[in-house]
Order: sequence, then structure tokens, then C-alpha cells
Amino acid sequence: MRIADRSMRHAALMDRNYRFQRHIYDATRKYYLLGRDPMIAGLDVPAGGSVLEIGCGTGRNLARVGRTYPQARLFGLDISAVMLETAALTLSREGLDGRTRLARADATDFTANPLYGEAAFDRVYMSYALSMIPGWQRAVECGLAALAPAGSLHVVDFGQQRRLPGWFRAGLHAWLRQYHVRPIAALEPELARIARAAGRPLHFRSLYRDYAWLAVIGPRPDQS
Ligand SMILES: C[S@@+](CC[C@H](N)C(=O)[O-])C[C@H]1O[C@@H](n2cnc3c(N)ncnc32)[C@H](O)[C@@H]1O
Repeated sequence: MRIADRSMRHAALMDRNYRFQRHIYDATRKYYLLGRDPMIAGLDVPAGGSVLEIGCGTGRNLARVGRTYPQARLFGLDISAVMLETAALTLSREGLDGRTRLARADATDFTANPLYGEAAFDRVYMSYALSMIPGWQRAVECGLAALAPAGSLHVVDFGQQRRLPGWFRAGLHAWLRQYHVRPIAALEPELARIARAAGRPLHFRSLYRDYAWLAVIGPRPDQS
């Protein structure tokens, strides 16, 4: 998939970031990308439903979604060609390649239909991706544009660790910056603003002493 020139620098940065890390990514991230499995449990995908992960990385989450919801149809999007290579291997190893479609695109500038031939998805989610995406609000808006009126959009990402020691928060943020990750302090008000504009409700939760945040933008009220 061709991505626009203005996205190429970010794509190259992500490829450099993950070229070697992707081989140890799943083994290491399980200790600090907390809340991913509760988010997946909360997707509650309808039978035969379609699920899109924006910023799907190694495919670890899509594989778990596939196992949790055996009839779900899986779609993944990422800007990094090397991460998509790993995702394709993961999903094939899990025997899920037959019901998965992966595409390379910039989350802030995509339209789902031409990429996947799907008019709308039942579930869209972003797991620890928004904190790596410059202009992340646009990614949420693109995700909502790809969502069925009765569907929901789910986000899990770093919180602000307000109920953890200050030294832990400072150390975590400094360490994450090396990997181009910036926890988004204004995630809740910005998601509330975007959800309101889309005429959808927002549910927002803090997990693990505010280590992580979990948000759900729900179905349009006339659809629930
Ligand atoms: C920290 S990883 C999270 C991967 C996976 N979602 C997980 O929970 O393990 C962030 C992913 O977002 C992707 N990403 C970053 N910026 C992006 C963008 N603008 N468009 C699409 N994907 C992007 C990266 O390439 C990477 O695979």
C-alpha cells in the first residue's frame, strides 16, 4: 500500500525503531503494556463481526482477538513495514491468516474501504499506539469514520501514573521518550471532545494506579 510522502519520515522512524526490537517485542512488552488483555476481553465482538486494530504492531493482539472470538474477521493496519512482516508471521503461525487482512497505512490518513473493501467495522481499537502517533487525534477520527454506527472504538494506552511514586513516573516517561513514546496527558478531554463531535458516548477508566488508561467510545445512542 502506498503511503503519502508526508508520512514517509514517520514510517522510516518506526521501521528503524522496530527493525531489531520486533524480535523481542512480545516477550518484553508483556511486562509493561498493561491492560491489553482486559481491553480485548471488553471488545465483546458479535459473531462474524469485523475488528480493526490500528497500529497492530507484531499482531500479538490480533492473534488474541482471533482466539477469543473464533468467528471474528480480523484487520490490522500499521505504518511500519517491518512490524507488518512480523504480524503476518504471527497470524500465520496461529493459523489465523485465512481470516486476517493486514495493510500498511498512516493511522492519521486512511480510509478503510479502499484498503480492505469493508464499508464499516464492528470494533476498532488502538493499543499503545496513540502515544506514538503525532497528530493522534486524527487517528481517532479516522477510526471513528471507519466504525459502524452500532460499533465501538476502544483505546488502551499509558496513563499519567498519578497514584504511583513521582520518581517512577519521571523514569518511565524518560525511558519511553527514547522509543518515541509520549504518554498523552490530555487523552480523556480530547477523546471526550472527539466522541461528542461524533455523537457518541465516552467511557474512561484508569487502571493499575493510573499506570494505564482504558477508553471506550460507544455506539451512537440511537443504535444501542
Ligand atoms: C507500541 S506499538 C503497539 C503495537 C500493538 N498495538 C501492541 O499493543 O502490542 C505501536 C505501533 O504503532 C505503529 N504506528 C506508529 N505510528 C503510526 C501511524 N502513524 N500509523 C499507523 N501505525 C503507527 C508502530 O509502527 C507500532 O507498530
